[in-house]
Amino acid sequence: MTVDDKGRDAEKMHRHIRDLAKKRKAVILAHNYQAPEIQDAADLCGDSLELSRKAAQTDAEIIVFCGVYFMAETASILSQDKTVLIPVPAAGCPMADMITPEALRLRQEELPGVPTVTYVNSTAAVKALTDVCCTSANAAAVVNSLDADEVLMVPDRNLALYTAAHTKKKIHYWDGYCPTHDRLTAEHVKKAMAAHPEALFMAHPECRPEVLELAHAVRSTSGMLKFPEGRAEKGYIVGTETGLLYPLKKLHPNCTFYPAWDKMVCPNMKKTRLEDLLRCLETLDGEVCVPPETAEPARRALERMLAIV
Ligand code: 13P
Ligand code: SF4
Repeated sequence: MTVDDKGRDAEKMHRHIRDLAKKRKAVILAHNYQAPEIQDAADLCGDSLELSRKAAQTDAEIIVFCGVYFMAETASILSQDKTVLIPVPAAGCPMADMITPEALRLRQEELPGVPTVTYVNSTAAVKALTDVCCTSANAAAVVNSLDADEVLMVPDRNLALYTAAHTKKKIHYWDGYCPTHDRLTAEHVKKAMAAHPEALFMAHPECRPEVLELAHAVRSTSGMLKFPEGRAEKGYIVGTETGLLYPLKKLHPNCTFYPAWDKMVCPNMKKTRLEDLLRCLETLDGEVCVPPETAEPARRALERMLAIV
């Protein structure tokens, strides 16, 4: 098959997907790390929480979430009246799976009276045991808003350590990590900086502390998309999953973006192909249902966060 044939095939599939989505009254969401052809087929692209909030506000009957499982769960928690589908249910998040509700309960028993702040990159069952959620963009603001001197943060150790540097509170953290971000080393970054000395380095807070120390800016994926706005610098080294380079280039065509390390690829984020999205719209398979007894407390933790920032 030639490149042209492939392009025509993708175009045909896009049209088919758009027609079916309309017929099904479905809204298609894609996380910023999804493959370019999935981002192009989506109604909305963004970070996980931003997408779930926007989806809850649409009058669509069906939400198709192209991302990983916890993201579709969050959409279901915030849109209990809608059907939420994930094209590839096996697209999980290893970091979210590094903590179980049982293990969190045990840790909470060891820290009586200490509130739990849970990163949105977590399962619904873990969110349900949580006082308040946070995102990579608002973790310090959420922690600082709490009327407590000590806080337990789960499941990302790197986000917790970054937050600890921006609060006077004592942070107890869970030793989870994102394998895609945690693999980026200071050596990778120094190499990229030496190759592009004019470029600014943006890093995601899921990266290790020694990597964040080298960053000109530490941002969530949405924060990185905005960072070049109005800046004189035209080169940026991107310390996050390489999928973000696609929307960065689209939004800032006059800038050049370099991956901090080209192996920063989340295999789960790349599991969704156009064929899966099309099949999902055809069959309506892949429903994500969070039972009300989990969804209710998890929604409260998310809404407490939304009331803070
Ligand atoms: P954000 O898009 O919220 O920054 O999350 C990054 C991430 O790792 C999602 O899986
Ligand atoms: Fe999970 Fe990391 Fe992949 Fe995001 S990039 S889904 S945190 S493993």
